[in-house]
Amino acid sequence: MNIVLGVGGGIAAYKAALLLRLFTENGHSVTVIPTAAALRFVGEPTWSALSGKPVHSDVWTAVEQVPHVRLGQQADLLVIAPATADLLARAAAGLADDLLTNTLLTARCPVVFAPAMHTEMWEHPATQANVETLIARGAHVIPPASGRLTGADTGPGRLPEPETIYEVCRHQLEHSGSPRGPQAAPRPDPEGDYSGWRVLVTAGGTREPLDPVRFLGNRSSGKQGYAVAARAAARGAQVRLISANVALPDPPGVQVETVETALELQAAVQAAVGWADLVVMAAAVADYRPATYAQSKMKKSHAPGHEDAAPTIDLVRNPDILAGLVTARGTAATPVIVGFAAETGEPGTSVLQLGAEKLARKGCDLLVVNEVGVDKTFGQDENTVHILRRNGQPQVDAGPAGKEDIAQTILDVARTVLG
Ligand code: CTP
Repeated sequence: MNIVLGVGGGIAAYKAALLLRLFTENGHSVTVIPTAAALRFVGEPTWSALSGKPVHSDVWTAVEQVPHVRLGQQADLLVIAPATADLLARAAAGLADDLLTNTLLTARCPVVFAPAMHTEMWEHPATQANVETLIARGAHVIPPASGRLTGADTGPGRLPEPETIYEVCRHQLEHSGSPRGPQAAPRPDPEGDYSGWRVLVTAGGTREPLDPVRFLGNRSSGKQGYAVAARAAARGAQVRLISANVALPDPPGVQVETVETALELQAAVQAAVGWADLVVMAAAVADYRPATYAQSKMKKSHAPGHEDAAPTIDLVRNPDILAGLVTARGTAATPVIVGFAAETGEPGTSVLQLGAEKLARKGCDLLVVNEVGVDKTFGQDENTVHILRRNGQPQVDAGPAGKEDIAQTILDVARTVLG
């Protein structure tokens, strides 16, 4: 694949050299476009030696090849690491004052930004507004990691590890079947009824590893949660999606973070919930995880006794993330919290009865109840749900209908709770 690696002028530029190596070692052809400021941190010989290609920052070199248009048009993925506050601002404003910003305007492929800067700069409303603009146009922004910064200070702002950025890029390449980017992303409706609201969605199913090759998982495909995220973005919301093991393309205009386990999902939700006005917990979270993780593959021959002895797997409880959100909210009005209930029903107890009990137990504002089974709901494109509300308000039924339509109804009902 043709990768363009844009490098901004920050101390983390040295980590981009490791990212470049990951791309080339995995068979990708990489063109590096550093900004002039980036070259003060890591010089041109490093980038050209590691990429095996000429490296330029301005639009005045090799003009006959029209590089400011060609590089963007030919790229399969454009990744900017580190993306400084200045670079995010120039990208958001659509400036074209060097080769990298020109390339950003001509690219129609997935674009990934990995911001890195001091915490104050990252949290400044100007930077946050620029990030939101880029996400709304279809870019993927990897939230910076927390930890030690350049000096003695710590906080969010560190460039994520090159392996993490590489994984996000690999995911984007694998799941962007059709050319995406600014032109392909439907514009969020600024007049939409979710304009100004921040929506956090979880989707997919957690995996709880037993050893490097095995896990306990579930059948959730993530389709319903992805549909909620996509529709909320189209209705004008700022949307963050925490995705657990889903093989679907990122919804346009949605910031996606991937997790694997329930504990990772809990950490990601806790980090984002302070931002959200509405939380939609569509993910199927494993209630239990193996008590121990085997560092190497569990072998039959390691079973006590003889080869035919079946191992016993001890499980421990995972936290109930949804219930934790309700407890942490206390008496505050926001965030509005929507839970999902996957029920198969039981002899003598209907799916709806089980749902009503779960709504009371979890204390969320809405509970989307659906009947599940091997060929019901999971992985299907259609769904039938009952949306239960607190305080005895009548339930809202939706479906059978496509998961996009079901998502619209869930958002309609949640919007009435948001006020
Ligand atoms: N959920 C959660 N944390 C868990 C389990 C579930 O946050 N450890 C959330 C799910 O995201 C969903 C809701 O709780 O929104 C209900 O999930 P479900 O699996 O139906 O319910 P459980 O809590 O597992 O209850 P039960 O085992 O009794 O069905």
